[in-house]
Amino acid sequence: MSEITAAITAVGKYLPEYILTNAELETLVETNDEWIVSRTGIKERRILKEKGKGTSFMAINAANDLIRKINLDPKEIELVIVATATPDMQAASTAAFVATEIGATKAFSFDQIAACSSFLYGMSTASSYIESGRYKKILLIGADMNSSMIDYSDRATCIIFGDGAGAVLFEPNHEGLGLQDEYLRSDGNGREFLKVDAGGSVLPASKETVKNGQHFVHQDGKTVFKMAVSKMADVSEKILERNNLTVNDVDWLAPHQANKRIIDATARRIKLDSNKVMMNIEKYGNTTSATLPLLLSDYETQLKKGDIVIFAAFGGGFTWGSIYMKWAYNN
Ligand code: UT7
Repeated sequence: MSEITAAITAVGKYLPEYILTNAELETLVETNDEWIVSRTGIKERRILKEKGKGTSFMAINAANDLIRKINLDPKEIELVIVATATPDMQAASTAAFVATEIGATKAFSFDQIAACSSFLYGMSTASSYIESGRYKKILLIGADMNSSMIDYSDRATCIIFGDGAGAVLFEPNHEGLGLQDEYLRSDGNGREFLKVDAGGSVLPASKETVKNGQHFVHQDGKTVFKMAVSKMADVSEKILERNNLTVNDVDWLAPHQANKRIIDATARRIKLDSNKVMMNIEKYGNTTSATLPLLLSDYETQLKKGDIVIFAAFGGGFTWGSIYMKWAYNN
Protein backbone atom coordinates (compact mmCIF):
# COMPACT_ATOMS: atom_id res chain seq x y z
CA MET A 1 0.00 0.00 0.00
CA SER A 2 1.34 3.46 -0.87
CA GLU A 3 2.15 5.90 1.88
CA ILE A 4 -0.44 8.63 2.46
CA THR A 5 0.71 12.20 1.86
CA ALA A 6 -1.43 15.29 2.48
CA ALA A 7 -2.17 17.46 -0.52
CA ILE A 8 -4.04 20.68 -1.15
CA THR A 9 -6.78 19.87 -3.66
CA ALA A 10 -8.75 23.14 -3.85
CA VAL A 11 -8.49 26.81 -2.87
CA GLY A 12 -10.92 29.68 -2.28
CA LYS A 13 -10.76 33.28 -1.14
CA TYR A 14 -12.67 36.29 0.10
CA LEU A 15 -11.67 39.93 0.18
CA PRO A 16 -13.80 42.76 1.54
CA GLU A 17 -14.91 45.28 -1.08
CA TYR A 18 -13.57 48.42 0.59
CA ILE A 19 -10.16 49.46 -0.75
CA LEU A 20 -7.97 51.54 1.57
CA THR A 21 -5.50 53.28 -0.72
CA ASN A 22 -2.21 54.96 0.12
CA ALA A 23 -3.88 58.22 -0.93
CA GLU A 24 -6.53 57.77 1.78
CA LEU A 25 -3.85 56.92 4.37
CA GLU A 26 -2.18 60.24 3.48
CA THR A 27 -5.31 61.93 4.89
CA LEU A 28 -5.12 59.93 8.16
CA VAL A 29 -1.42 60.03 9.12
CA GLU A 30 1.74 61.81 8.05
CA THR A 31 2.84 59.52 5.24
CA ASN A 32 2.95 59.40 1.48
CA ASP A 33 2.47 56.94 -1.35
CA GLU A 34 6.14 57.05 -2.37
CA TRP A 35 7.34 56.15 1.17
CA ILE A 36 4.82 53.32 1.57
CA VAL A 37 5.50 51.78 -1.86
CA SER A 38 9.30 52.03 -1.61
CA ARG A 39 9.46 50.76 2.02
CA THR A 40 6.79 48.06 1.85
CA GLY A 41 5.59 47.46 -1.74
CA ILE A 42 1.99 48.04 -0.66
CA LYS A 43 -0.36 50.13 -2.83
CA GLU A 44 -3.72 49.24 -1.27
CA ARG A 45 -5.39 46.91 1.22
CA ARG A 46 -8.94 45.68 1.80
CA ILE A 47 -10.92 46.61 4.93
CA LEU A 48 -14.05 44.94 6.28
CA LYS A 49 -16.26 47.91 7.09
CA GLU A 50 -19.63 46.29 7.84
CA LYS A 51 -20.57 46.67 11.51
CA GLY A 52 -21.09 43.43 13.41
CA LYS A 53 -19.07 41.35 10.96
CA GLY A 54 -15.69 39.90 11.89
CA THR A 55 -13.13 37.29 10.94
CA SER A 56 -15.74 34.52 10.70
CA PHE A 57 -17.64 36.45 8.01
CA MET A 58 -14.59 36.44 5.75
CA ALA A 59 -13.68 32.84 6.64
CA ILE A 60 -17.21 31.66 5.76
CA ASN A 61 -17.08 33.48 2.41
CA ALA A 62 -13.65 32.03 1.55
CA ALA A 63 -14.84 28.53 2.49
CA ASN A 64 -18.02 28.92 0.44
CA ASP A 65 -15.97 30.09 -2.54
CA LEU A 66 -13.94 26.85 -2.35
CA ILE A 67 -17.06 24.71 -1.80
CA ARG A 68 -18.76 26.27 -4.86
CA LYS A 69 -15.69 25.89 -7.07
CA ILE A 70 -15.40 22.12 -6.61
CA ASN A 71 -19.06 21.43 -5.84
CA LEU A 72 -18.12 19.94 -2.45
CA ASP A 73 -20.76 18.61 -0.09
CA PRO A 74 -19.83 20.39 3.19
CA LYS A 75 -21.07 17.37 5.15
CA GLU A 76 -18.00 15.50 3.86
CA ILE A 77 -15.66 17.89 5.69
CA GLU A 78 -14.34 16.24 8.87
CA LEU A 79 -12.30 19.04 10.40
CA VAL A 80 -12.37 22.83 10.04
CA ILE A 81 -9.32 24.77 11.23
CA VAL A 82 -9.43 28.56 11.29
CA ALA A 83 -5.91 29.97 11.39
CA THR A 84 -6.18 33.49 12.77
CA ALA A 85 -4.70 36.15 15.00
CA THR A 86 -8.05 37.95 15.27
CA PRO A 87 -10.70 35.43 16.34
CA ASP A 88 -14.28 36.71 16.51
CA MET A 89 -14.27 36.72 20.30
CA GLN A 90 -12.55 35.35 23.39
CA ALA A 91 -13.45 31.84 24.54
CA ALA A 92 -15.97 30.89 21.81
CA SER A 93 -14.24 29.09 18.93
CA THR A 94 -14.43 30.99 15.64
CA ALA A 95 -13.93 27.73 13.73
CA ALA A 96 -16.98 26.13 15.35
CA PHE A 97 -19.18 29.00 14.15
CA VAL A 98 -17.66 28.87 10.67
CA ALA A 99 -18.15 25.09 10.40
CA THR A 100 -21.82 25.37 11.36
CA GLU A 101 -22.47 28.30 9.02
CA ILE A 102 -20.98 26.53 5.96
CA GLY A 103 -22.96 23.35 6.70
CA ALA A 104 -19.97 21.25 7.81
CA THR A 105 -22.22 19.67 10.40
CA LYS A 106 -20.19 16.47 10.72
CA ALA A 107 -16.90 18.25 11.37
CA PHE A 108 -15.08 19.12 14.56
CA SER A 109 -13.25 22.41 14.54
CA PHE A 110 -10.74 24.62 16.28
CA ASP A 111 -8.78 27.85 15.89
CA GLN A 112 -5.04 27.82 15.34
CA ILE A 113 -3.39 30.95 16.68
CA ALA A 114 0.27 31.72 15.91
CA ALA A 115 0.22 35.32 14.62
CA CYS A 116 1.49 35.56 11.01
CA SER A 117 2.59 31.90 11.09
CA SER A 118 -0.91 30.62 11.93
CA PHE A 119 -1.61 29.33 8.43
CA LEU A 120 1.84 27.79 7.99
CA TYR A 121 1.50 25.93 11.29
CA GLY A 122 -2.08 25.06 10.25
CA MET A 123 -0.74 23.38 7.10
CA SER A 124 1.38 21.18 9.34
CA THR A 125 -1.59 20.36 11.61
CA ALA A 126 -3.98 19.59 8.75
CA SER A 127 -1.36 17.44 7.01
CA SER A 128 -0.65 15.43 10.15
CA TYR A 129 -4.34 14.57 10.58
CA ILE A 130 -4.49 13.44 6.93
CA GLU A 131 -1.23 11.46 7.15
CA SER A 132 -2.61 9.65 10.20
CA GLY A 133 -5.11 8.02 7.85
CA ARG A 134 -8.04 8.88 10.12
CA TYR A 135 -9.32 11.93 8.18
CA LYS A 136 -9.90 12.49 4.48
CA LYS A 137 -11.21 16.04 4.12
CA ILE A 138 -9.86 18.94 6.16
CA LEU A 139 -10.69 22.56 5.49
CA LEU A 140 -7.96 24.98 6.55
CA ILE A 141 -8.93 28.65 6.46
CA GLY A 142 -6.58 31.58 7.07
CA ALA A 143 -8.58 34.68 8.00
CA ASP A 144 -7.79 37.94 9.73
CA MET A 145 -9.59 41.20 10.34
CA ASN A 146 -6.48 43.17 11.19
CA SER A 147 -8.39 46.45 11.01
CA SER A 148 -10.06 45.43 14.30
CA MET A 149 -6.76 45.97 16.15
CA ILE A 150 -5.15 48.78 14.17
CA ASP A 151 -4.80 52.35 15.38
CA TYR A 152 -5.40 54.43 12.26
CA SER A 153 -3.37 57.27 13.79
CA ASP A 154 -0.24 55.07 14.10
CA ARG A 155 1.68 55.27 10.84
CA ALA A 156 4.02 52.45 11.91
CA THR A 157 1.21 49.89 11.64
CA CYS A 158 -1.79 51.30 9.75
CA ILE A 159 -0.01 51.36 6.40
CA ILE A 160 0.87 47.67 6.54
CA PHE A 161 -2.13 45.60 7.52
CA GLY A 162 -5.27 44.59 5.63
CA ASP A 163 -8.22 42.20 6.00
CA GLY A 164 -8.92 39.03 4.04
CA ALA A 165 -9.36 35.27 4.03
CA GLY A 166 -8.30 32.24 2.04
CA ALA A 167 -9.27 28.58 2.30
CA VAL A 168 -7.66 25.32 1.20
CA LEU A 169 -8.85 21.72 1.26
CA PHE A 170 -6.41 19.00 2.37
CA GLU A 171 -6.98 15.42 1.15
CA PRO A 172 -4.93 12.21 1.09
CA ASN A 173 -2.68 11.69 -1.93
CA HIS A 174 -1.25 8.37 -3.08
CA GLU A 175 1.19 9.69 -5.72
CA GLY A 176 3.61 11.20 -3.21
CA LEU A 177 2.37 14.75 -3.85
CA GLY A 178 1.52 17.35 -1.18
CA LEU A 179 3.49 18.18 1.95
CA GLN A 180 7.00 16.72 1.86
CA ASP A 181 8.79 18.37 4.78
CA GLU A 182 8.43 21.15 7.33
CA TYR A 183 10.77 23.13 9.55
CA LEU A 184 8.81 25.11 12.16
CA ARG A 185 10.32 27.30 14.87
CA SER A 186 9.36 29.73 17.65
CA ASP A 187 11.10 31.98 20.18
CA GLY A 188 9.16 33.61 23.01
CA ASN A 189 11.85 36.25 23.48
CA GLY A 190 10.22 37.96 20.52
CA ARG A 191 6.94 38.64 22.32
CA GLU A 192 7.84 42.22 23.26
CA PHE A 193 8.40 43.35 19.68
CA LEU A 194 4.98 42.69 18.13
CA LYS A 195 1.86 42.42 20.25
CA VAL A 196 -1.48 43.70 21.50
CA ASP A 197 -0.90 44.39 25.20
CA ALA A 198 -4.44 44.39 26.53
CA GLY A 199 -7.53 42.23 26.18
CA GLY A 200 -5.86 38.94 27.08
CA SER A 201 -5.42 37.27 30.47
CA VAL A 202 -2.27 39.19 31.46
CA LEU A 203 -3.90 42.58 31.05
CA PRO A 204 -7.69 42.30 30.72
CA ALA A 205 -9.44 45.13 28.90
CA SER A 206 -10.42 48.10 31.08
CA LYS A 207 -11.26 51.77 30.61
CA GLU A 208 -7.60 52.46 31.36
CA THR A 209 -6.25 50.10 28.70
CA VAL A 210 -8.60 51.53 26.09
CA LYS A 211 -7.62 55.09 27.06
CA ASN A 212 -3.96 54.12 26.66
CA GLY A 213 -4.53 52.49 23.27
CA GLN A 214 -3.30 49.13 24.58
CA HIS A 215 -5.94 47.25 22.59
CA PHE A 216 -4.11 48.19 19.39
CA VAL A 217 -1.25 46.26 17.79
CA HIS A 218 2.18 47.73 18.47
CA GLN A 219 5.39 46.69 16.84
CA ASP A 220 9.05 47.56 16.84
CA GLY A 221 9.14 47.48 13.05
CA LYS A 222 12.91 47.57 12.68
CA THR A 223 13.51 44.58 14.98
CA VAL A 224 10.69 42.56 13.43
CA PHE A 225 11.99 43.44 9.97
CA LYS A 226 15.54 42.28 10.72
CA MET A 227 14.37 39.06 12.35
CA ALA A 228 11.92 38.33 9.52
CA VAL A 229 14.62 38.77 6.87
CA SER A 230 17.12 36.51 8.59
CA LYS A 231 14.70 33.81 9.80
CA MET A 232 12.66 33.46 6.59
CA ALA A 233 15.87 33.11 4.60
CA ASP A 234 17.38 30.68 7.17
CA VAL A 235 14.44 28.29 7.11
CA SER A 236 14.05 28.42 3.33
CA GLU A 237 17.74 27.58 2.93
CA LYS A 238 17.49 24.84 5.57
CA ILE A 239 14.51 23.10 3.96
CA LEU A 240 16.17 23.11 0.54
CA GLU A 241 19.41 21.79 1.97
CA ARG A 242 17.94 18.93 3.97
CA ASN A 243 15.82 17.77 1.03
CA ASN A 244 18.77 17.94 -1.37
CA LEU A 245 17.03 20.55 -3.49
CA THR A 246 18.87 23.19 -5.45
CA VAL A 247 17.28 26.48 -6.26
CA ASN A 248 16.81 25.23 -9.85
CA ASP A 249 14.44 22.54 -8.55
CA VAL A 250 12.14 25.14 -6.99
CA ASP A 251 9.19 26.28 -9.08
CA TRP A 252 7.71 28.73 -6.56
CA LEU A 253 8.49 30.51 -3.32
CA ALA A 254 5.26 31.34 -1.45
CA PRO A 255 6.41 33.79 1.22
CA HIS A 256 4.33 35.48 3.91
CA GLN A 257 3.45 38.94 2.57
CA ALA A 258 4.64 41.33 5.29
CA ASN A 259 6.94 43.62 3.35
CA LYS A 260 8.21 43.39 -0.25
CA ARG A 261 11.74 44.07 1.00
CA ILE A 262 11.56 41.03 3.33
CA ILE A 263 10.32 38.87 0.43
CA ASP A 264 13.01 40.18 -1.97
CA ALA A 265 15.74 39.59 0.64
CA THR A 266 14.56 35.99 1.23
CA ALA A 267 14.57 35.28 -2.51
CA ARG A 268 18.01 36.88 -2.90
CA ARG A 269 19.48 34.79 -0.04
CA ILE A 270 18.40 31.53 -1.70
CA LYS A 271 19.33 32.99 -5.13
CA LEU A 272 15.83 32.46 -6.53
CA ASP A 273 14.75 34.25 -9.68
CA SER A 274 12.10 36.90 -8.95
CA ASN A 275 9.66 35.40 -11.49
CA LYS A 276 9.39 32.33 -9.22
CA VAL A 277 8.35 34.42 -6.22
CA MET A 278 4.62 34.66 -5.54
CA MET A 279 3.66 38.20 -4.62
CA ASN A 280 0.38 40.08 -4.17
CA ILE A 281 1.31 42.39 -1.28
CA GLU A 282 0.69 45.44 -3.48
CA LYS A 283 -3.06 44.65 -3.55
CA TYR A 284 -3.77 43.39 -0.03
CA GLY A 285 -0.95 44.44 2.34
CA ASN A 286 -0.20 42.09 5.22
CA THR A 287 -3.33 40.01 5.87
CA THR A 288 -1.56 37.91 8.58
CA SER A 289 -3.03 34.37 8.43
CA ALA A 290 -4.55 34.93 4.99
CA THR A 291 -1.39 35.77 3.03
CA LEU A 292 -0.43 32.21 2.03
CA PRO A 293 -3.88 30.96 0.93
CA LEU A 294 -4.48 34.25 -0.92
CA LEU A 295 -1.23 33.65 -2.82
CA LEU A 296 -2.35 30.13 -3.72
CA SER A 297 -5.69 31.46 -4.86
CA ASP A 298 -4.16 34.21 -7.01
CA TYR A 299 -1.54 31.85 -8.53
CA GLU A 300 -3.78 28.77 -8.83
CA THR A 301 -3.98 28.98 -12.63
CA GLN A 302 -0.17 29.11 -12.93
CA LEU A 303 0.51 26.19 -10.56
CA LYS A 304 1.04 22.80 -12.21
CA LYS A 305 0.84 19.28 -10.85
CA GLY A 306 4.25 18.32 -9.46
CA ASP A 307 5.48 21.93 -9.03
CA ILE A 308 7.81 22.34 -6.06
CA VAL A 309 6.54 25.11 -3.77
CA ILE A 310 8.50 26.41 -0.77
CA PHE A 311 6.37 28.24 1.81
CA ALA A 312 7.98 30.55 4.36
CA ALA A 313 6.49 32.74 7.09
CA PHE A 314 7.51 34.83 10.07
CA GLY A 315 5.34 36.50 12.70
CA GLY A 316 4.67 37.62 16.25
CA GLY A 317 5.78 35.51 19.16
CA PHE A 318 8.19 35.08 17.37
CA THR A 319 6.95 32.21 15.21
CA TRP A 320 8.34 31.17 11.84
CA GLY A 321 9.08 28.28 9.55
CA SER A 322 9.11 26.76 6.11
CA ILE A 323 7.18 24.00 4.32
CA TYR A 324 8.17 22.08 1.19
CA MET A 325 5.21 20.94 -0.90
CA LYS A 326 4.70 19.27 -4.26
CA TRP A 327 1.61 20.79 -5.86
CA ALA A 328 -1.03 18.14 -6.52
CA TYR A 329 -3.27 19.31 -9.38
CA ASN A 330 -3.62 21.23 -12.62
CA ASN A 331 -6.34 23.83 -12.66
O1 UT7 B 1 4.09 39.91 9.49
C1 UT7 B 1 5.10 40.07 10.43
C2 UT7 B 1 4.92 41.35 11.11
N1 UT7 B 1 5.38 42.57 10.61
C3 UT7 B 1 6.44 42.78 9.81
O2 UT7 B 1 7.08 41.92 9.27
C4 UT7 B 1 6.83 44.22 9.63
C5 UT7 B 1 8.32 44.39 9.68
N2 UT7 B 1 8.71 45.79 9.59
C6 UT7 B 1 8.58 46.55 8.50
O3 UT7 B 1 8.01 46.14 7.52
C7 UT7 B 1 9.22 47.92 8.50
O4 UT7 B 1 10.04 48.05 9.64
C8 UT7 B 1 8.20 49.08 8.48
C9 UT7 B 1 7.49 49.13 7.13
C10 UT7 B 1 7.21 48.96 9.60
C11 UT7 B 1 8.96 50.41 8.64
O5 UT7 B 1 9.95 50.53 7.64
P1 UT7 B 1 11.44 50.89 8.01
O6 UT7 B 1 12.18 50.98 6.75
O7 UT7 B 1 11.93 49.91 9.05
O8 UT7 B 1 11.26 52.34 8.60
P2 UT7 B 1 11.73 52.90 10.01
O9 UT7 B 1 10.79 52.50 11.07
O10 UT7 B 1 13.19 52.66 10.18
O11 UT7 B 1 11.57 54.44 9.75
C12 UT7 B 1 12.38 55.16 8.79
C13 UT7 B 1 11.91 56.59 8.76
C14 UT7 B 1 11.76 57.22 10.15
O12 UT7 B 1 12.08 58.59 10.03
P3 UT7 B 1 13.51 59.13 10.49
O13 UT7 B 1 13.63 58.77 11.94
O14 UT7 B 1 14.51 58.39 9.62
O15 UT7 B 1 13.42 60.60 10.21
C15 UT7 B 1 10.30 57.06 10.45
O16 UT7 B 1 9.82 58.01 11.36
O17 UT7 B 1 10.60 56.65 8.17
C16 UT7 B 1 9.67 57.25 9.07
N3 UT7 B 1 8.39 56.57 8.95
C17 UT7 B 1 7.48 56.93 8.04
N4 UT7 B 1 7.45 57.90 7.11
C18 UT7 B 1 6.37 57.97 6.33
C19 UT7 B 1 7.94 55.50 9.64
N5 UT7 B 1 6.73 55.14 9.20
C20 UT7 B 1 6.41 56.01 8.19
C21 UT7 B 1 5.31 56.16 7.34
N6 UT7 B 1 5.32 57.16 6.43
N7 UT7 B 1 4.24 55.34 7.41
